[in-house]
Amino acid sequence: MIRYWQLLFIQALVLLILVSNSHSQEVYDYNHLPYKVEAFSQSTCPSNPFISVAHIPIFVAHQQEYSHFLNSVKPLEPTNTKDEMVGKQDSHILVTGGTGFIGSFTVLELLKNGHKVVVIDNLSNSSTEPLNRIKKLANLTEDIPFHKIDLMDINGLISVFEKYNFSSVIHFAALKAVGESSKIPLKYYENNLSGTINLLSVMGQFNVRNIVFSSSATVYKYVPGGPPMKEGDDTGSSNPYGRTKLFMESIITDVANSEPGWNAVLLRYFNPTGAHVSGIMGEDPLQIPNNLMPYVSQVAVGKLKEVHVFGDDYNTIDGTGVRDYIHVSDLAEAHVLAMKKFESSADKKSNLFIYNLGSGTGFSVLQMVEAMSKAVGKEIPYVIDPRRAGDVDVIVCNPSLAEKELGFKIKFGLDDMCRDLWKWQSMNPNGYNPSQ
Ligand SMILES: NC(=O)c1ccc[n+]([C@@H]2O[C@H](COP(=O)([O-])OP(=O)(O)OC[C@H]3O[C@@H](n4cnc5c(N)ncnc54)[C@H](O)[C@@H]3O)[C@@H](O)[C@H]2O)c1
Repeated sequence: MIRYWQLLFIQALVLLILVSNSHSQEVYDYNHLPYKVEAFSQSTCPSNPFISVAHIPIFVAHQQEYSHFLNSVKPLEPTNTKDEMVGKQDSHILVTGGTGFIGSFTVLELLKNGHKVVVIDNLSNSSTEPLNRIKKLANLTEDIPFHKIDLMDINGLISVFEKYNFSSVIHFAALKAVGESSKIPLKYYENNLSGTINLLSVMGQFNVRNIVFSSSATVYKYVPGGPPMKEGDDTGSSNPYGRTKLFMESIITDVANSEPGWNAVLLRYFNPTGAHVSGIMGEDPLQIPNNLMPYVSQVAVGKLKEVHVFGDDYNTIDGTGVRDYIHVSDLAEAHVLAMKKFESSADKKSNLFIYNLGSGTGFSVLQMVEAMSKAVGKEIPYVIDPRRAGDVDVIVCNPSLAEKELGFKIKFGLDDMCRDLWKWQSMNPNGYNPSQ
């Protein structure tokens, strides 16, 4: 006689067999990425097909819901190789997040160096106005090709890759606020990881295998009193945003190692600040700034009351936290240098490169406020508040690898950063949106 629990067990077994038989082996085979999603329904399925596939065994109970989704996942048809596409379009560089702060400066630098650029962005933290400013600064007669696309929309991405012949991709698009990432971690993981997976998948499909990635100093494990950070140092971030950057680095590394032809440059930025020397391009945070310098400049222009300095009892020159600041134009130039790593050369030893991008010099919060006060020509008010959880004494990089291998050289110093930031802020008190 069959007992009740035995019946349950048999039912579960039958269900499991049904589920595993109803999906082809290809679905689970990660060696055959990428897959194409057709008629994919956002309302019934998680927005990233690849992450969802990995979770299927856990969601056996929801097999009906997932079988609809799985039926829509098909291996890709072979796409034209790049050689076949040459002639269809000139070779372009795709810049994701290209209307954002660092992306827009990099687009300008690429254009100045004779590259053709296509920008995609979902405009969640930017507007298209930087493209008009770039057009002016680069003396262009035609608009910069722009597509409003969310990286989560894989079909939208495919349509852009169908339109242009890309030689490489610079991947800026991400959510980036450390504090916010602790409040809405899933949104950060979903946006940053799924976006990157989709991008790499479509790149693979279209045989575009060169990627420069925006990483961050936040991926390093902090060692109190340690020397300036080097690329080989231990990683381990203390916040969800930093962990998304670490995971994205790992995903890109794994893809780069998966088959020949991939090249990746991971750039770890320290603290980008400053603005274009003309004052017509700069950082335009849509909310209260998370970073020190945009906050200081908004106090200087009267939009915010005073600077909040979190802790003055750190083991530093004046007790306030020390960080490594880099002018955004220097940072943008490093991306153009990084593209040279994609040029094939006989002595090429690797297809994966990691570089710190910073000045190698640290300045304290109070030194930054003082330097900005000098640029503005008046005292910028500040108050000392208690330490913030997660903050540390000193974060400074050793940029010698980027200097040696990329020819990276800082052109702008602290006074230049403050001068340009103030010019931008005073000429554009409401950023790119004058009616704000
Ligand atoms: N600014 C810094 O201090 C700093 C430091 C280290 C690393 N980074 C990294 O550099 C990159 C650029 O930073 P930024 O300061 O220019 O930020 P930003 O917010 O100004 O630019 C990012 C852009 O990506 C877009 N975006 C976000 N998610 C998207 C998605 N799913 N699809 C399409 N577009 C999307 C946003 O609309 C925005 O325009 C980010 O990856 C950031 O993590 C920035």
